[in-house]
Amino acid sequence: MSDTRGNVIIRLTDVDKSFDDERVVKKLNLDVEEGEFLTMLGPSGCGKTTTLRMIAGFEVPTSGQIFLEGEDVDDKKPNERNVNTVFQNYALFPHMNVFDNIAFGLVEKKVKKDEIRSRVEEMIKLVQLDGMEKRMPAQMSGGQKQRVAIARALVNRPKVLLLDEPLGALDLKLRKQMQGELKALQRRLGITFIYVTHDQEEALTMSDRIAVMNRGRLEQVGTPEEVYNHPETKFVADFIGESNIIEGYIENMTDDSIEVTMESGKAVIHETGYRMEEMVYLCIRPENLKISMEAKEGFRFRGQVKEHIFIGSTNKTMIEMPNGQMLKSVTPAEDELIPVGTAVNVFWNPGKAVVMRTKEEQIYNVIEQSVEIEGMTNDQIF
Ligand SMILES: Nc1ncnc2c1ncn2[C@@H]1O[C@H](COP(=O)(O)OP(=O)(O)OP(=O)(O)O)[C@@H](O)[C@H]1O
Ligand SMILES: [Mg+2]
Repeated sequence: MSDTRGNVIIRLTDVDKSFDDERVVKKLNLDVEEGEFLTMLGPSGCGKTTTLRMIAGFEVPTSGQIFLEGEDVDDKKPNERNVNTVFQNYALFPHMNVFDNIAFGLVEKKVKKDEIRSRVEEMIKLVQLDGMEKRMPAQMSGGQKQRVAIARALVNRPKVLLLDEPLGALDLKLRKQMQGELKALQRRLGITFIYVTHDQEEALTMSDRIAVMNRGRLEQVGTPEEVYNHPETKFVADFIGESNIIEGYIENMTDDSIEVTMESGKAVIHETGYRMEEMVYLCIRPENLKISMEAKEGFRFRGQVKEHIFIGSTNKTMIEMPNGQMLKSVTPAEDELIPVGTAVNVFWNPGKAVVMRTKEEQIYNVIEQSVEIEGMTNDQIF
């Protein structure tokens, strides 16, 4: 990570948002650094747009505070914040040509005509729409319209640009191309980007850091490498990339290892800091899960090869475990395959299983404590 950064430009402190009685954003705490490309990633309805709209000033938090450049912006209207937004739909003015669409914000601010012209032309070059100044939105492709929307936001020289699924409406090829262009633009201009998407691949390829959201809460914030290789929760492991997630509990431990008992077998893992009997999830990426005819030390975990799926440069092998769970192993296409139907030993590369605590234990405790609270439903307890 670059050392030139480090200034916090946006800070969210315990931000909560309810619509009517529904809490859609829950105690969000997040620092965004100057010049950073931060992506908010999460499934539909998890609160991404709502969070962005609160930062932009279109929604007011129910509680908590938002700081822009150290200043509490509670009473600042959207146009008083040094932030611009590119919305999920491009929201261009259909009756205005490209030039006028981009110039709109500057005209509103009563910037001098000469300056408007030079700034708009600079933007048109930047997003590579030279020669299209007079086109109307209806005469442009989705990708071109998206560039107009980005130019229209950038022309105001915001410190922060909020982008809400800006590429969602584009086809895969154009989306990939625009991803590269957007990322390069962000680097060149040094503007802080908060980018919203529910596409995990987009998040992994573009971001300095990813904030993974689930049901209004932040599950984990980290670099793409951190959230992929060291997911802190089952949700993150499941949502980002493909995973094998196996439930188990700790049956034995030594000074430097734990033995995890799963429904389908046992494995020794060189990790510490857990308690006996603790319930855990193991997350093993398909590229780290291996099978072999021979037994492997530390593993007593057997399954049966069910299917091979050819995916170009790799093969995906599905392995059925005694409890019916299907595990995935991905290997280079040139590797020899073990025939379907063969009983195999399942293992993984040392250090490649991520151990995650389950929340069940806490929940059991709550249930135990709450048996005496008569008349309360689970919804009220949790
Ligand atoms: N103005 C509103 N009034 C009532 N409920 C709302 C309002 N805006 C959003 N919600 C609700 O808040 C929740 C979060 O919505 P939000 O738009 O932030 O999700 P999102 O993460 O952006 O989803 P998507 O990926 O589908 O765009 C949803 O359940 C939604 O129905
Ligand atoms: Mg949204």
